[in-house]
Amino acid sequence: MSDNKGVFITGAASGIGLAAARLFAERGWSVAAADIDGALLRERLHGQPGIAATLQCDIADSEAVEAAMAAAEAATGGLGAVVANAGIHIRNSVCGITDAELDRITDINIKGSVYTLRAAARLLVAARRGGAVVLTASDQAFIGKPGNFGYGLTKGAIAQMTRTAALELAPHGVRVNAVCPGTVDTAMVDKIFENASAAGGGSVDAMWAEERALFPLGRTCTPREVAQAIYFLAAEATFSTGALLKTDGGLTAG
Ligand SMILES: NC(=O)c1ccc[n+]([C@@H]2O[C@H](COP(=O)([O-])OP(=O)(O)OC[C@H]3O[C@@H](n4cnc5c(N)ncnc54)[C@H](O)[C@@H]3O)[C@@H](O)[C@H]2O)c1
Repeated sequence: MSDNKGVFITGAASGIGLAAARLFAERGWSVAAADIDGALLRERLHGQPGIAATLQCDIADSEAVEAAMAAAEAATGGLGAVVANAGIHIRNSVCGITDAELDRITDINIKGSVYTLRAAARLLVAARRGGAVVLTASDQAFIGKPGNFGYGLTKGAIAQMTRTAALELAPHGVRVNAVCPGTVDTAMVDKIFENASAAGGGSVDAMWAEERALFPLGRTCTPREVAQAIYFLAAEATFSTGALLKTDGGLTAG
């Protein structure tokens, strides 16, 4: 377990990543927040207590990720945790997915997560300080969902990279875990429903109501609830590695 209380978080301008940045900061960590949307990131987090840096970074660019990780290490005074959270959603089916969609979703969700995980692993192993990496997978690491062909395959890949990296990094005292959220109230889902509504699928409110009814707990998840699970894995679950922590309101329990 690292004593360093610096954390690097990707996708921190919105949703789960933003909630995680705020939670780590509240709990006394020094946060280096990264996002492809540098303007939104700065607007929401720059100058806030506990925010050491706001870094514009496209996780699909491996050199940019290496540079942002180095900047985060310097700005926070030393990383003890990395949260590889950024990702995108595109709706498609096995018959309908285009080559361009497949490239885009694998470039960001799979390669971007690998670039972040790899940069974190290299840094933490070289520094010999231990530490923790938390990735953001999905309930789709456990179940298929029609209309989510490309997205689901990337989240299965994140679950698998979590397991193997956990085993490879355990001798170095670096833990690797993933959160697996069900539907979370974020801009990502708003956009999916807005697109479906524009294509004639009914009202956005009706889609949210239908979504909430899917979950045994009778509602969808808040970004803060996923952030709490991320924080637990990063800072408190000191004997957990290779774990896939569900925050899905019981959806995949049945
Ligand atoms: N919202 C859900 O229902 C849900 C469920 C399970 C998993 N997730 C996962 O949680 C993570 C965060 O999603 P969210 O719901 O908070 O979405 P969001 O759209 O609210 O936030 C995602 C953030 O990632 C950033 N981002 C996108 N592409 C990027 C890139 N190439 N480089 C750097 N930053 C990039 C966006 O600018 C945005 O700020 C994603 O990996 C998503 O797949 C979301």
